[in-house]
Amino acid sequence: MAVQINPSILSADFARLADEAEAVKGADWLHVDVMDNHFVPNLTLGVPIVESLSRATDTPLDCHLMIEDPDRWAPQYVEAGAGSVTFHAEAAAAPVRLAREIRAKGARASMALKPATPIEPYEDLLPELDMLLIMTVEPGFGGQAFLDIMLPKIRRTRELISRHGLQMWLQVDGGVSAETIERCAEAGADVFVAGSAVYGTEDPAATVRALRAQAERAAAGAAWACGH
Ligand code: DX5
Ligand code: ZN
Repeated sequence: MAVQINPSILSADFARLADEAEAVKGADWLHVDVMDNHFVPNLTLGVPIVESLSRATDTPLDCHLMIEDPDRWAPQYVEAGAGSVTFHAEAAAAPVRLAREIRAKGARASMALKPATPIEPYEDLLPELDMLLIMTVEPGFGGQAFLDIMLPKIRRTRELISRHGLQMWLQVDGGVSAETIERCAEAGADVFVAGSAVYGTEDPAATVRALRAQAERAAAGAAWACGH
């Protein structure tokens, strides 16, 4: 069962982003949290930094847009070099049109759900997406405690993906660590974002390898992965 580990640079040193990308060599994607201080109460980075970072690393960029009006901004992140662009369901005015635009520009299209947003209203949209992101904390800050109450939503989403025969990825983001990653994998996640759990350690690349091994073991034993 192929799982992917995406370190979040929100917990990295923003003055040394190229080095911090190098420090997690072997990671599948670099998770880049874009916050506008409106959709979430925090401000991080935007298009110019994504553009520079994409030139500075070979690891593909997984941009998580926690911003208002993603319909306007998301395509610019594809042009800036992101390989995957995630917009929030709560912020998008026209999610189908936006997902199609992201794909047409050559990136993977992904949609995120805050903890209080159910997956069920979006069932028919799933074929338009390459990934669904289930937030396991309220978006805005790194280092928050994992919300166990999100596990049933992860399970229900995995069931929907299987029922529709889709190949899309299921990402979890927020509080993912050695303590929580196995529960996420057992519930059906296959892409894991980890910020503080990776960059807060002495050897971030070794931590990525350890998290991957844990998630692979848990996914291999999970009912949802049988037959994959
Ligand atoms: C939070 C961000 C996350 C954050 C996760 O709103 O979307 O990507 O970096 O940080 P940890 O892994 O520390 O919870
Ligand atoms: Zn994120």
